[in-house]
Amino acid sequence: MKKISVAVVGATGMVGRTFLKVLEEEKLPVDKYYLFASKRSAGQKINFMGEEHVIEELTETSFDRGIDIALFSAGGSTSEKFAPIAASKGCIVVDNSSAWRMDENVPLVVPEVNPEDIKKNKGIIANPNCSTIQAMVALKPLDDKYKIKRIVYSTYQAVSGAGMGGWSDLENGLKGEAPQKFPHPIANNCLPHIDSFLDNGYTKEEMKMVNETRKILGRDDIAITATTVRVPVFNSHSESINLEFHNSFDLKELVEVLKNAPGVVVQDDPENNVYPMAITATGSNDTYVGRIRRDFSVENGVNLWVVADNIRKGAAANAVQIAQKLIEYMND
Ligand code: A2P
Repeated sequence: MKKISVAVVGATGMVGRTFLKVLEEEKLPVDKYYLFASKRSAGQKINFMGEEHVIEELTETSFDRGIDIALFSAGGSTSEKFAPIAASKGCIVVDNSSAWRMDENVPLVVPEVNPEDIKKNKGIIANPNCSTIQAMVALKPLDDKYKIKRIVYSTYQAVSGAGMGGWSDLENGLKGEAPQKFPHPIANNCLPHIDSFLDNGYTKEEMKMVNETRKILGRDDIAITATTVRVPVFNSHSESINLEFHNSFDLKELVEVLKNAPGVVVQDDPENNVYPMAITATGSNDTYVGRIRRDFSVENGVNLWVVADNIRKGAAANAVQIAQKLIEYMND
């Protein structure tokens, strides 16, 4: 077995801390960890894997020591600058920002969906957007079987997706304080506004769902539209997904396909009030699917309610799963 060293960049952040939690749970065969953040946190001590680790400032020389894999979650501009530096030193970056996702040389990976793309990396692998990841886990097995024609995404996204600042806006907003992160109060409110607005009237978040879905499924022909909404929920994203297929389907069989899909847990017993919820998905790496019902307004349509922990499966757990596969390939 090759000795592997792994860096976590943004180790003090919302996703970074969950990287550390998931790494502790998954016990990857790693010999050494390095934790990086900004200058502000340099010298701070973090207990990780039963040892005290000191946070280092991320600099241009941080990767001059044979680091094999780096998990990045320190914002787009940090990734834009430092991911190529790390890659040039022989490190493989698993990047959680949106900086590299649509680059044709960068695989965009959900391990349950397109693990084979990991091997095509040229030093950077992108972790998809949180709301896209959970949708892909549920949609890939249905696309394989029934061939998706059109998707309508409507999301109900938690504040943790906006980092520590988003979390504080809800916490403080519930006490009556003014928002710092969002343009309006999020407490007792819904904001149809995630990331910035584009000239076409959509937000960047909405276009991420459209473009990343096509890239991950390798299906440029799927018609997709999305409305993404920030809701006053601390953690876990919920999504209403309306699908139209090219092929006809049997609803019972479709439920079985989902039950057998990797990473999917079907929770669908409306008579007993059983359906996926943010509060029950939080803390899990799985994607929960329920409210599975035919869309009677079209020929081959179905509605799904899909919920997952956006910081785990939507970010940290997905990245750690990619790192796990990378280590397997390194040891092949
Ligand atoms: P720091 O805590 O030192 O600011 P979140 O999205 O939850 O706010 O977390 C952002 C993460 O990215 C934090 O760990 C933050 O570190 C880190 N970060 C922000 N800017 C940089 C930078 N220029 N270099 C390295 N890490 C950064």
